[in-house]
Amino acid sequence: MTETVIKTENLNFQYETDDKIKPVLFDINLDIKKGSFVCILGRNGSGKSTLAKVFCLVNKPTSGSLELFGTKIGSDVTEDQEYEIRKKIGMVFQNPDNQMVATIVEEDVAFGPENLGVEPKEIRRRVDEALDIVGMKEFARHSASQLSGGQKQRVAIAGIIALSPDVIVFDESTAMLDPIGRREVMQTILKLAGMGKTIILITHHMDEAVYADRIIVLSKGRVAADGTPEGIFSREKMLKETGLDLPQSKKVLNKLSEKGLDISTEGLDPKSAAEKIADALRKRGLQ
Ligand SMILES: Nc1ncnc2c1ncn2[C@@H]1O[C@H](COP(=O)(O)OP(=O)(O)OP(=O)(O)O)[C@@H](O)[C@H]1O
Ligand SMILES: [Mg+2]
Repeated sequence: MTETVIKTENLNFQYETDDKIKPVLFDINLDIKKGSFVCILGRNGSGKSTLAKVFCLVNKPTSGSLELFGTKIGSDVTEDQEYEIRKKIGMVFQNPDNQMVATIVEEDVAFGPENLGVEPKEIRRRVDEALDIVGMKEFARHSASQLSGGQKQRVAIAGIIALSPDVIVFDESTAMLDPIGRREVMQTILKLAGMGKTIILITHHMDEAVYADRIIVLSKGRVAADGTPEGIFSREKMLKETGLDLPQSKKVLNKLSEKGLDISTEGLDPKSAAEKIADALRKRGLQ
């Protein structure tokens, strides 16, 4: 059986600031497997970032249980144990400019492992490998300020890869990028997913969600739906209630299906969708 990396049971979370209490997450029950590619969707303010910060131990559950990499988070977990757990989850944020700490690309990527006390030879190896994975090797000695948004974001991802986490959370990491930057970053995320990293992708773009194995829809701090992209994007009522649109591929497939083409319902990523259309056309041609 595949290992569970994140498990929550009846988890609730509330922000407590000065005299105000704001409950945000309610009764969250999730089991995220190692190597899976999970997408979290939901309206603004539905609790996506709050949940991601629970996974990273930035937000501690108010009640219910949270288990990370087999360790139950609670009063008997030491600070050292928490530190070790935090190292296993990396997070990439929205604004690439806020994530740069050094002026030279490779120094920026090295910053994390240096802080962890990794030995210089191993740092060199990790930096080279990370820059290679994100396709930024030739920019190693460049000044970070001269890069495009998509390139900066890929350097930020390299910085996380260099920490070798088991899980990487992307919190709207493509939101501030132009279409080219978005594509570059999405390709990097898909590459990491292909390498077996556990990916948690928070996005407002349905066309990014189609690549995931699983979509979790949050609505007002609750899990409103949890399933495969095909399952989720066929639930029209739920999508309407939670304010979600359809991905482009699903719109095209629906249109063709309305026109009487016999289209199977598996796979919404562009490659699968194109294959399905080709299959349907071939079938029709043979009839
Ligand atoms: N530090 C905080 N203190 C108090 N309330 C907060 C804090 N951070 C977020 N909230 C509130 O928690 C709720 C959920 O916010 P969160 O940022 O998790 O939503 P989100 O789904 O990530 O939204 P978006 O799509 O806009 O990023 C919102 O009502 C927000 O105002
Ligand atoms: Mg958010």
